[in-house]
Amino acid sequence: MKFFVDTANLEQIKEAQDLGILDGVTTNPSLMAKEGITGEANIIAHYKAICDLVDGDISAEVIATDFEGMIKEGQALADIHENIVVKVPMTKDGVKAIRWFTDHDIRTNCTLVFSAGQAILAAKAGATYLSPFIGRIDDMNWDGIELIAQIADIYTTQGYPTEILAASIRTPLHIVRAAEAGADVVTCPLSSILGLLKHPLTDIGLAQFLADHKKANS
Ligand code: E4P
Repeated sequence: MKFFVDTANLEQIKEAQDLGILDGVTTNPSLMAKEGITGEANIIAHYKAICDLVDGDISAEVIATDFEGMIKEGQALADIHENIVVKVPMTKDGVKAIRWFTDHDIRTNCTLVFSAGQAILAAKAGATYLSPFIGRIDDMNWDGIELIAQIADIYTTQGYPTEILAASIRTPLHIVRAAEAGADVVTCPLSSILGLLKHPLTDIGLAQFLADHKKANS
């Protein structure tokens, strides 16, 4: 399973990159706004900076909601760097745009996915990645992980090559359960990735090893 970090914060991206386990980055308009990145020139410069930091797929989302606008924006984003993946929302125009990008060798990440039916449409249009939003489904008192498992079953049965990118991850346990359910990729906040490191028995065991070593060597 690939690990992407879900942020536009360069320091956090660098920290995840330094761990040596990072395969890519996802951003969205909210995450860019959170970093104060506004205006076309600054947004493009920021994507360039991310591409310079990480040698992996970088999802950059279109703002346009109409087909023509998505194509224009997506082409400009794809021109930034060969690692850019154009993120397109799951709408009627979005599906048409994904098909257009696929036919023009531009890779896509279909975002805002909340159902298996949407996952089938995105795969049929040739999406490179599909982003079901686990955390936002859980917020509605449904089961986000169950959706990942259902889509994984469908994609295996139908032989769809679209990769399932579990998004809207909120906890380290989401990462583990997404892996069990068959996600190809998880995109997570840095805090959830670092949360995977934690176990009290590791801390207790290390303290004991170091104490024994000190006693024996003093
Ligand atoms: C990433 O591709 C998604 O935009 C992101 O994971 C959404 O996460 P959120 O539901 O925590 O905003």
